[in-house]
Amino acid sequence: MPELGRRGVIARYGHRMAIDGIEAPVTLCEGGTPLIPAPRLARELGLGCELVLKYEGLNPTGSFKDRGMTAAITQAAADGARVVMCASTGNTAASAAAYAARAGMRCVVVVPDGKVALGKLAGAVAYGARVVAVKGSFDDGLRLVREATETSGIALVNSLNPARIEGQKTAAFEICEALGGPPDWLCLPVGNAGNITAYWKGFREEVSAGELPRMLGGQAAGAAPLVLGRPVERPDTVATAIRIGNPARWTEAQAAIDGSSGLVAAVEDAGILRVYRMLAQLEGVFCEPSSAAGLAALAGEVARGAISVTGRTVVCVLTGHGLKDPDAAMASARPCVAVEPRLEPLLEAASNG
Ligand code: F0G
Repeated sequence: MPELGRRGVIARYGHRMAIDGIEAPVTLCEGGTPLIPAPRLARELGLGCELVLKYEGLNPTGSFKDRGMTAAITQAAADGARVVMCASTGNTAASAAAYAARAGMRCVVVVPDGKVALGKLAGAVAYGARVVAVKGSFDDGLRLVREATETSGIALVNSLNPARIEGQKTAAFEICEALGGPPDWLCLPVGNAGNITAYWKGFREEVSAGELPRMLGGQAAGAAPLVLGRPVERPDTVATAIRIGNPARWTEAQAAIDGSSGLVAAVEDAGILRVYRMLAQLEGVFCEPSSAAGLAALAGEVARGAISVTGRTVVCVLTGHGLKDPDAAMASARPCVAVEPRLEPLLEAASNG
């Protein structure tokens, strides 16, 4: 076969992943996402750094979850699993559904009823998953899924599954490769805390201790257990992907923050949405609201003088594509304008917008 673009993270980095089955990976050619410089945004936010966006929304199902899911489903296939299950705020669900379909497995996804963005649900059902909406939070769903997978032979593909971390750490490898070394800071949203765990593992495997980047995690103010130091019983935020009150990888996330002299900061929904709009309107990069939480946290911490990133290289991970949450996009921008099919009203509309 000729080499046609992206090869998938197991083809590239399988030899560095602790998983079985890499000779027959279940892949959608995920990974290889671009690093996009964002100088206008850096200036507008007064950051003074070289700001680069790792646009993970360009993965096959529209989020970074695909990196971990190729590994988890490949491992599950090697183990002989026929059914996989996860709890999800939406992106893990879509990703698990796609990779399970590709592996010929059944997939059951458990989501918080009424709190999943439309594009994610659409993905999960389109890929043929059984979607179960639990009348409760993501945390309730994860508790149930852990119980359900303990004895049933169904494979759990949440980021509690170590294969997920093995796959997701490849984003750190790619960043070092593209920049010719690690950045000074890595900013990302934190929900269930699998991704910060994976990046930290990836960087520690890739670079020497003295070169490690500082990790900056962003949490929504209404769902900020790591910032508060205690679980949040009723998490609430417009950033539904990270609407999580009791992260499964809490300890590992804290270790990444402490070990990197980093920090975790809370951002109000208004701050997240502001940066979400700026990303799209100043740089042409459309992510889902949750994805903006890392950059919003960075902007907030710099603005209040808690940190300085002047002259530094800062990578912000944009975890999911903007089309995942069309309702958020429509609610936070100017409405469309309808006109009669004549030139005058068109020019009139064109001139005042
Ligand atoms: N950004 C997006 C777009 C996400 O979907 C998630 C998590 C995160 C950030 C946070 O990553 O959980 O590893 O700290 N989404 C999970 C899901 C919970 O079910 O799709 P994390």
